[in-house]
Amino acid sequence: MEPGNRVIVFDTTLRDAEQTPGASLSVTEKTEIAQQLARLRVDVIEAGFPISSNEDFEAVRRIGQEVQGPVVCGLARALPQDIERAAAALHGAARPRIHTFVGTSEIHLKGQLRKGREDVLRMAAAAVELAKSHCPDVEFSPMDATRTDLVYLCEVIEAAIAAGATTINVPDTVGYAVPEEFGTLIRTLLERVPNSGQAVFSVHCHDDLGLSVANSLTAVRHGARQVECTINGLGERAGNASLEEVVMALKTRRDYFGLDCSVDSRELIPTSRMVSRLMGIGVPPNKAIVGANAFAHSSGIHQDGVLKERNTFEIMAPQDVGLDASAIVLTARSGRHALRHRLDELGYHLGKDELDKAYERFLEIADKKKEVFDEDLIAIAGDEIRQVPERYRLEYLHAVSGTGTVPSATVRLRVDGQEVLQTACGDGPVDAAYLAIQEATKAGAKVEEYAIRAVTSGSQALGEVSVCVSRDGYSSKGRAISTDVIEASAKAFVDALNRLAIKMGTVPPPAHGV
Ligand code: KIV
Ligand code: ZN
Repeated sequence: MEPGNRVIVFDTTLRDAEQTPGASLSVTEKTEIAQQLARLRVDVIEAGFPISSNEDFEAVRRIGQEVQGPVVCGLARALPQDIERAAAALHGAARPRIHTFVGTSEIHLKGQLRKGREDVLRMAAAAVELAKSHCPDVEFSPMDATRTDLVYLCEVIEAAIAAGATTINVPDTVGYAVPEEFGTLIRTLLERVPNSGQAVFSVHCHDDLGLSVANSLTAVRHGARQVECTINGLGERAGNASLEEVVMALKTRRDYFGLDCSVDSRELIPTSRMVSRLMGIGVPPNKAIVGANAFAHSSGIHQDGVLKERNTFEIMAPQDVGLDASAIVLTARSGRHALRHRLDELGYHLGKDELDKAYERFLEIADKKKEVFDEDLIAIAGDEIRQVPERYRLEYLHAVSGTGTVPSATVRLRVDGQEVLQTACGDGPVDAAYLAIQEATKAGAKVEEYAIRAVTSGSQALGEVSVCVSRDGYSSKGRAISTDVIEASAKAFVDALNRLAIKMGTVPPPAHGV
């Protein structure tokens, strides 16, 4: 890879995205994410803003010590105390970087800093010089660059490079720029700043107008060689440019950009899921690259096309972002081709007449439900849910809970015909029952989702529980209904385990009687 054709991927999930309301992380969680970012092979991890809190200091320190591979960066305002604190946090890191910044637009000079242009220019140069005395790798950001007077912006950048900055980051702090204009700004800075050749130009775009990825990519077309971005596009206000979108745009349209980056895109989904889980912020289903629907096909025409030739309706392979396969979502819009394909995958190979009958029944169900799940198909193909072979059968359940009591549950199951009795304590009666069932069945399945809803109203309402379990890349859903929600929970779990056993081939699928 030629140096000039490589885009440096700078991840600021642990700093800018951590500013998302409600998304704060413990030091341990940040370190876990940083380890995953290293597996993703980002070039730089901005691990925190050391002066902002003791936790941020500790996170930068720990990540600098423990995470191998990427450069580890700490943020500092252009103030001596900030830079000293960042340097202390990065002390002993294998590849440290200090990133210092100051607002340069008139709005920031007058409205926030209450300083003149000369003072701020001197602050910037002095901050870079001090950072450089601690660490050879120094990044400087003129904050609110896109609303800064161009002549002044060039002067500040020239002074920062002269003071030793090796990366100049051009932030669109308030997400104000539009792609053409932003690209032209980057090109103009590269042309006008006399010493621009001594630094890598970087961009840091916010998404207030939904343009952060477009702005970042246009900047790259115009000579920027570092993109600052975050997992799932999280970040201050509307967020930052989404790392997964930037990376997959560069990879998928390499014909257009002619640029490479070192990110291992197969780690995108695992990283997205980890960040979502630890920050407690779900990924919208329609989010590009990592949303649940990003590789799901619902229209009959699309399903038919993708099943015949993937690239008819897919520009990326799901495996390239870390998914096993695209999803064919079976709805009332699906055709016979999609139904047969999914039934084949589930082990039901139907003849033409059988398939026609199955399709009629499928449409009846699909008209009533938004989506037809594998479990419904198993019921259609096996005529009736009861025909699902039961590897596990719940015969007895007794759960105890109450104020001041340790919740516990005793279950008796038939496992491959043998009676097994098991008791467990848990966080609540459902947890206790699940632990007892896990122990009794030794199914080794992970509970991915658990949902409960009232089917009818009033205190005697029927509770419907659905549970999704997984093991070794297989997953299945189980459902059960009862007025006793603990019983419904336990039955749904056992149902899911029975269906998982069919999918994993540990018991044969039921007869096809359709
Ligand atoms: O948005 C911004 O300007 C920033 C800087 C600290 C780079 O986050
Ligand atoms: Zn920012």
